[in-house]
Amino acid sequence: MDLVICPSSPFLGKRISDFLGIKIANVQYKKFPDGEFYVRVESEEDKHVLVGSLISAKDIVLMNLLFDALKGEIVAVIPYMGYARQDREFLKGEAVSIRAIAKMIEDRVEKVLTVNIHSNKAKEKFKKLVDLDAMPLIGENFKGRDLVMISPDKGSAERVKVAAKIANCDWDWLEKKRIDAQTVEIAPKNLDVEGKNVLILDDIISTGGTVVEATKKLYELGAKRVETACVHAVLADFAVIKLFSSGIAEITATDTIERIFSKISVARILTEEVKKIVF
Ligand code: R5P
Repeated sequence: MDLVICPSSPFLGKRISDFLGIKIANVQYKKFPDGEFYVRVESEEDKHVLVGSLISAKDIVLMNLLFDALKGEIVAVIPYMGYARQDREFLKGEAVSIRAIAKMIEDRVEKVLTVNIHSNKAKEKFKKLVDLDAMPLIGENFKGRDLVMISPDKGSAERVKVAAKIANCDWDWLEKKRIDAQTVEIAPKNLDVEGKNVLILDDIISTGGTVVEATKKLYELGAKRVETACVHAVLADFAVIKLFSSGIAEITATDTIERIFSKISVARILTEEVKKIVF
C-alpha cells in the first residue's frame, strides 16, 4: 500500500505516511500551456491512501485524474471537503454541489474520511463517509488558558461546547444572520465577557465576515482580548487582513487546510481511522 499526496495537503500527507509507516508514491503533476492538468502515478501497489483537501476547483480536477490513474482500492482522506456548504437547493435550479462531489468520489473509493464536514445535510449525500471531529483537539490546545469560548452562531454552539468542556472554560454563542455570501449581521445579545479574554470558535473561516462582526460585538460588550480559532482556515481573499484589522489578536487553525496558522494537526486522528480500515 502506498500513500498518494494531493498538492493541497503536502505536510499533512507526509505526517500521515509517517504515522502509518507507508511510503509516499511518486506522482508527476503537470500543467499544459493551455491550462489542462496531467498526472502520472509511479506505484505498483493495488491499494492506496489518498490524502488531499478539496479547497479549489483545481483540487477537484486533480483528484478526479488521480482516481483514474490509481489501480485497485482507494481510501480517500479529504480533511476539508469543499462545496459542503452548498448542501441543498437554496434557490430553484441550483446544483446541490456536494451531491455531485460525493458521487464523483464514491464512484471510485472504498471509504472517505473527512474532518468536520459542514453539515448533516452534506454528510447525508455520502454512503461511505466517516466524519471526524477536530473540536477535542482544539479544546486540548486551549487547556489551561483563561478564556471564554464563543460560537458566532447557534449552529456551531454544540461544536464549541465540546471544545470548551475539554479546555475547561465557559462558553456561549451569538445569534448570526447571513445576508449574503460576504455579509453577516450579529444580533444584539448580552454575554458576560466584560474584561475577559475571548476565543471565537467556528468550523470554517472563509471571508472572515462572521468573525469580524462577532469581534466588533464582543469588544462592544467589553471583552479585553479577542482571538479566533477554526477547523478549516479557508481564509479567502483578504480575510486575514480583515481579521487583524478588526482587532483579532491571534488566529489558530488545524491543518485540514495548510496555513501559517495551522498549529493543530489532525494527522493522528485521521491515521487512527485509516488503520481501522486498511490494517
Ligand atoms: C457557517 O455556517 C459556517 O459555520 C461559518 O460561520 C462560515 O462559513 C464562515 O464564513 P465567513 O468567514 O465567510 O463569514
